[in-house]
Amino acid sequence: MPGNTSGPLIAPSILSADFARLADAAAAVNGADWLHVDVMDGHFVPNLTIGLPVVESLRAHTALPMDCHLMIENPGRWAPGYAEAGAYNVTFHAEATDDPVAVARDIRAAGARAGLGIKPQTPLERYLEILREFDTLLIMSVDPGFGGQAFIAEVLTKVRTARRFIDATGLTILVEIDGGINEDTIEQAAEAGVDCFVAGTAVYHTDDPAAAVERLRRRAAAASAHLHR
Ligand code: DX5
Ligand code: ZN
Repeated sequence: MPGNTSGPLIAPSILSADFARLADAAAAVNGADWLHVDVMDGHFVPNLTIGLPVVESLRAHTALPMDCHLMIENPGRWAPGYAEAGAYNVTFHAEATDDPVAVARDIRAAGARAGLGIKPQTPLERYLEILREFDTLLIMSVDPGFGGQAFIAEVLTKVRTARRFIDATGLTILVEIDGGINEDTIEQAAEAGVDCFVAGTAVYHTDDPAAAVERLRRRAAAASAHLHR
């Protein structure tokens, strides 16, 4: 997996882009590392976005690895389909299933990396022992459902715990953070040990999304430069 040795990964979230022009939104950030795609079902979160047909269509219009973030109920039923549609990484929420390991194995069997997402209020400790089943750990730094919310700095405690555990155990899982990441918040997240940074508003609500990605990358790289991995 890229990340731990190759510097911070930036994953623009198209949730903040123009949904009528998603192919253009992807092209606007072709220097980014992943394209973050927020799938919401109106049940797990109080918002409804896009689903499998859009991911399948978008796949043909971007070379960026697609990082699908499923904020949905019953991920066991739906998550493997996103892998089959060509997603690079498929993250589902720990709160949405009683058997996250089974879902992760099905995602991997379908050809994608598997990600475990946890909401800001969800403790990390109970999931440490199953991290070996995952390729990414997505720590939400806002309550899932909407872009443009304020960063919840308290979740950095979980980032530090995850970082220590991962480094001590030699796992290759990437730590991803999602919500309220911008030029003011990315440094503290990088210092805490995040590998991959999702940013929606801070990328797409600017005049130049590509330049915004590069600014975020530089800030994260500078802040994490002293960390020994
Ligand atoms: C929120 C989504 C995020 C969202 C982040 O539930 O998971 O990916 O797009 O948006 P910003 O960066 O605006 O907080
Ligand atoms: Zn997301």
